[in-house]
Amino acid sequence: MTLPIRTSLMWVGVAAAALLAGCERPPVATVQHGYRGTGMEQIYNPRQLVSQEALNKLPDAIAPASADGPRASAVFKNVKLLGDLSVGEFSRHMVAITSWVAPKEGCTYCHNAADFADDSKYTKVVARRMIQMTQHINSDWKTHVAETGVTCYTCHRGNGVPKNIWFNTASTDPTTKLMGYKAGQNEASMKVALASLPNDPFTPFLGDSNSIRVIGTSALPDGNRQSTKQAEWTYGLMMHMSQSLGVNCTYCHNTRSFASWDSSTPQRGTAWYGIRMARDLNKEYLGSLAGVFPAERLGPQGDVAKLNCATCHQGAFKPLYGQSMLKDHPELASGVKVAVAAPGVPASEDGIVYFGVGSAALPADMDKAIGSMVAALKANPDAKATLSGYHSAAGDLASNQELAKQRAFAVRDALKAAGIDPERVVLEKPIQTEANAAGEDPKARRVEIAVK
Ligand code: HEC
Ligand code: HEC
Ligand code: HEC
Ligand code: HEC
Repeated sequence: MTLPIRTSLMWVGVAAAALLAGCERPPVATVQHGYRGTGMEQIYNPRQLVSQEALNKLPDAIAPASADGPRASAVFKNVKLLGDLSVGEFSRHMVAITSWVAPKEGCTYCHNAADFADDSKYTKVVARRMIQMTQHINSDWKTHVAETGVTCYTCHRGNGVPKNIWFNTASTDPTTKLMGYKAGQNEASMKVALASLPNDPFTPFLGDSNSIRVIGTSALPDGNRQSTKQAEWTYGLMMHMSQSLGVNCTYCHNTRSFASWDSSTPQRGTAWYGIRMARDLNKEYLGSLAGVFPAERLGPQGDVAKLNCATCHQGAFKPLYGQSMLKDHPELASGVKVAVAAPGVPASEDGIVYFGVGSAALPADMDKAIGSMVAALKANPDAKATLSGYHSAAGDLASNQELAKQRAFAVRDALKAAGIDPERVVLEKPIQTEANAAGEDPKARRVEIAVK
């Protein structure tokens, strides 16, 4: 009988070892993140970091295309967003999004091969909205994504449907259950990093805008109506945020007080904007696609897929460890309008930017006009730039003066983008130029820059 006992003991040992293998085996590494003595340490598993590194490699860059030649809007039939790009740049953009979103399926993931202008595939309609969403993130949510920005690859990574999305869960009526309302607790959900917390923190906090703060600010209860259950919901969201970024709570908080902003890290501020950004994108962009997605893409409640912190971050403290792909894809950066190379607009000269008829869009060769001005302003911190906007004599005077002002504003924005404080830019009142005896002078539509 000794043998069977020995054998069964052996199996107990094997089973225990197998169970333990599910935990993270030592050694783990700790990195001090806050001031000494604050206990704000990050705990990492070096083996997991190795696999993370491979996940965050950038795809091969795509060679730049020439900005010359006809515009996409002039050559193609149904281009609503990217018409200002040259045909070369537009094609490069199509190649890029194909490799980011549908590398296996190719162009026909979004296009009807018989007619590329056709909008009958829902994926093309979604993709057009996605271009707008990406531009919106990069231009209006710099408080979160900084200059690093995002491209389609940040979320998609070669998949049509990003890996991390969420849907509304079926709500149980709290009053009808014999066992009481458990709010999705103890269901081993990855949404809350397997903690026994309410397992849908997304609907209230990233879909709706419910308050995340739960801690009272005074010793005695005076009006804080937040329940223990609501605190658990907050903790569920915090577990998701930590897991998505691959960090501990102390990346953002000092546990002496989770509420205090004074003792939190700057990253908590970035996260605060991240929460607002996720709400905005879910409502204004993904929500606006209701009715576009086919039934098999919808959740059990019939809602469209939505995003959370993991959609972009995918386990990294900054998506792709903060490497920027956006700088190689300016078409996704913002709504900065670069003019169609309109016929008859003179080439920019040092200190003079010329504009098209009725337009305040900056020409593509603008750097020629502002380059030496920016250098002079940077070399001499006391100098100021004076901008004068001019317009041609043709047309209504009041609207021409407004146009001249808009042209000056556009140049001021360009100087700002080049690192010149707008405080140092003085706008001079637009002056009406003499009508050209020979007719319309294209050189009349201009902004002159002087450094004084
Ligand atoms: C992820 C979806 C998607 C993929 C994949 C894709 N496209 Fe597009 N394509 C679009 C969208 C969206 C537009 C419209 C852009 C706009 O309105 O500014 C467009 C427009 C076009 C147009 C202009 C058609 C017209 O006449 O209006 C051409 C040409 C084109 N794509 C070619 C391609 C090629 C070639 C590929 C494969 C290398 C490709 N696309 C892959 C989404 C996609
Ligand atoms: C911030 C994250 C994010 C970014 C950036 C992003 N997407 Fe998406 N995309 C999503 C989410 C979430 C969905 C919804 C998932 C689904 O289709 O059910 C989606 C869906 C799509 C779909 C529909 C896929 C399908 O089969 O249902 C296409 C096509 C698409 N995106 C293209 C793009 C393109 C092109 C870009 C870049 C211009 C882009 N996306 C940028 C998050 C993103
Ligand atoms: C990436 C940064 C970040 C991480 C990591 C993080 N938090 Fe938070 N936490 C925040 C932000 C931002 C808020 C405030 C949210 C708001 O006001 O919308 C917050 C709020 C809270 C609150 C509510 C404070 C109050 O005023 O009532 C608690 C409690 C909390 N976090 C606990 C945790 C715990 C526990 C963890 C680890 C599981 C954690 N947090 C991880 C950023 C973070
Ligand atoms: C649209 C994609 C996207 C989404 C969604 C997103 N982030 Fe970010 N996040 C970024 C990018 C890009 C950066 C890098 C910005 C930079 O380089 O400074 C970043 C940076 C951060 C940082 C700063 C990290 C550091 O070490 O400085 C924190 C914290 C953060 N995100 C938290 C969150 C939280 C929490 C959420 C969910 C509520 C979230 N993010 C959702 C794209 C996203």
